[in-house]
Order: sequence, then structure tokens, then C-alpha cells
Amino acid sequence: MIEPSNRVKHTKESYIRNILKVIQQPGMLSLAGGLPDAHRFPQSILAQAAAELANQPTIYQYGASEGLTELREFILASKPFAEEVIITSGSQQALDLIARCYLNPGDQVLCETPSYLGALQIFDLAEAETLTVDSEKDGPNLAHLEQVLAANNVKFFYAVPDFQNPSGRCWSLGKRQAVADLLAKYKVAFVEDAPYRELRYEGEPLTTVTELCKGDAFYLGSFSKIATPGMRVGYAMASKPLLAPLIKVKQASDLHSALPMQKMLLSTISHPDFGLHLEQLKSHYCSRRDALVSALQKHLSDYVDFAVPQGGMFVWCRLKQHQAQHIATAALKAKVAIVPGDEFWPARSTVNDQAIRLNFTALDSKDLEQAVIRLATVMQQSQASG
Ligand SMILES: Cc1ncc(COP(=O)(O)O)c(C=O)c1O
Repeated sequence: MIEPSNRVKHTKESYIRNILKVIQQPGMLSLAGGLPDAHRFPQSILAQAAAELANQPTIYQYGASEGLTELREFILASKPFAEEVIITSGSQQALDLIARCYLNPGDQVLCETPSYLGALQIFDLAEAETLTVDSEKDGPNLAHLEQVLAANNVKFFYAVPDFQNPSGRCWSLGKRQAVADLLAKYKVAFVEDAPYRELRYEGEPLTTVTELCKGDAFYLGSFSKIATPGMRVGYAMASKPLLAPLIKVKQASDLHSALPMQKMLLSTISHPDFGLHLEQLKSHYCSRRDALVSALQKHLSDYVDFAVPQGGMFVWCRLKQHQAQHIATAALKAKVAIVPGDEFWPARSTVNDQAIRLNFTALDSKDLEQAVIRLATVMQQSQASG
């Protein structure tokens, strides 16, 4: 077999992909993934949107690399702070295009700790050096951020300010402004990844960091969490000159995202009932979050500390006395899947993050409690065996 490139060999593997076979075993309860609840996709709206496609032969033609004009106009109208938008195959592709356009091998990117694994993989593939900034419950540690920016030559800071994956954290308004000011001072670009922004269960939405940035900033949006991930439609917003290289690379990469899916997505999100769907989805996920939180308080409070996230899909639990990798392996044997915290750190990091990420959107309340009971047994046994 021919050798994979060094880029690929040095890219961090996905923990979930590696344990997929085990997760799929009968009786397994998985808190490991980040899947939306498939029973809550807007089925009737999607069916209407799909039926409309039948009468539009031109939608099956090749299209523009920057995406369907009507969809781009709809997105720009909903987020008037950006000058331009391009449609991508999920927000994952938007980040990949940014990395390919703006990172030379050896360039430095800055990430939160912990950070989204899919982003770390992209930065590895771009052969970038991934630096980290310490994170607090309301956003990055500002003194550390300034220290890292002053001592390095960071190309951009990548972050998920709203209900981060994996930590569930949401940056305070003060931190958003302070980060924007520091980035302006050190002339560093910002990449705001916001797939969970619309999944807020309480409190008021906060200004995006992109809006506060005086210099270069990208805002990445996704429909995966509020409509369906299977359509693979996301977008990148920024100034026209910043987006121009992305259009060129997208052309080389996949020409354009599938037009029927873009059209179907537009019909879905512009449907008069989509707002109601979103409200119902949020209240559904909020009750699942509450079910997980009360199960953790009831069964695991001796072993974990956690903050209740105001939105998103994850609860991040810090382990008081256990080793996360050890607990994750033992949990699989007890038929519950979780992701250990150090999976969300760059590949070369030596940090041992004794935390676990728990997803609350994919299982119902009963299974969420059952999974936590299994975890509690695993932790009790692991403590008893020393
Ligand atoms: C932080 C973050 N960014 C991006 C993505 C990718 O989303 P999409 O389905 O839009 O590609 C995910 C998916 O889970 C995510 O958690």
C-alpha cells in the first residue's frame, strides 16, 4: 500500500470514530457523540421542501462556488453584521477552507482549552502549530491570552464562544469585548465558530465576538443543530476580500455544495413553521439537559463537578478523583460511552485533563439517568479497587 502523507500520519484521530464499533453494540448507552435527536428533525417541513424540488429542473444543474444566491441573501438578512457570505458543506468545510487559505505549514493558530476536536484535526492537516489559551467559565483567561499573543506570531484565534463543544461554556459580554480589543491590539484575526448559538435555553443572546472585532474576523454558521446535519449546509461570513480566497479553494475542492440541498434548506428555514420548530426543539433539549443535570446531582455528585450549560448539547464534568481515560474504558465495559477530556487537546499536548464530556441531546430522560447510574457504579468500583 502507498504511504499516507506525513500530514495525515500526524493528525489526531477521532476517539468516537475509534470506538464506533463498540458504541454500536446492543444495549450500549452513548453520551459520547454530538448527535441531534433524529426524532426532532422538522419532518413535515422537510417533506414539503423536498416535494418542491420536483418542479425545479435547474436546481439539478452545476452551480456557483459561493452558493445559491437566494440562500446567501436570506442568511445575510438574518445576520446583517457581515458584508459577505459563502455557502459551504457544513461549517466544518468553512473552517477547512480558512485553514487551507490562510495557514502555511508551521504557522501558529490559537485555540481554547479544551477545544473542538474537528478543528484540531483541521489545524493538524494544515501542518500548523496549535497553541492554547487557558479557559475560565466565562471565556479565555485574559492575562494568559495577552501573554500568548505578545510572545508569538499567531495567525488567528479559533473559538466557540456560544455553548462550546466540549465544555458547554458561554463567554460573558465583558470577555467578548476584551478578547476583541486584545486581538485588535496584536493584529490577530478571529474565527468564530457558532453552530450552537441558536440553541440557547435561557438568558439573552450576547453580541457575537465578530461584531466586536475591529480587525479581520470570520463567523461560521451551521444548520446541523437546528435543522438537520445530513443536508451538510453551513456558511462562512466575513468581508469580501477575506472570503475571496475561500471561493477559489472551494472551487478546487468540490466545485460547490449540492444545489438541491441548499434549496431544500432555504425552503425549510424560511417556512412559516420553522420558528415554532426551533422553539419546540429548544424546550425538548432543555428538558433533556435538566434530566442529565438532576441525574448527575443525584448519583454522581461525590465524584464530579460541573456547571449547568445555558445552551448547546454538552455537560463537561471535572472528575474529583478518577482518571478520565481509565473511567472511559471501564464505562465502555459497563455499556456506557463517554469521551475523556484530553481528547479535546492538541495532539502534542502533555496535559492530562481529568474531565469527561457528556452529550444530552441523543438519549431520552430515562436512558440519560440509566447511563449516569452505570457511570456511578463504574466510579464506585474503580475507587474500591484503588
Ligand atoms: C464546534 C463545532 N464546529 C463545527 C461543527 C461541524 O458542524 P457542521 O455539521 O455544520 O459541519 C461541529 C459539529 O459538531 C462543532 O461541534
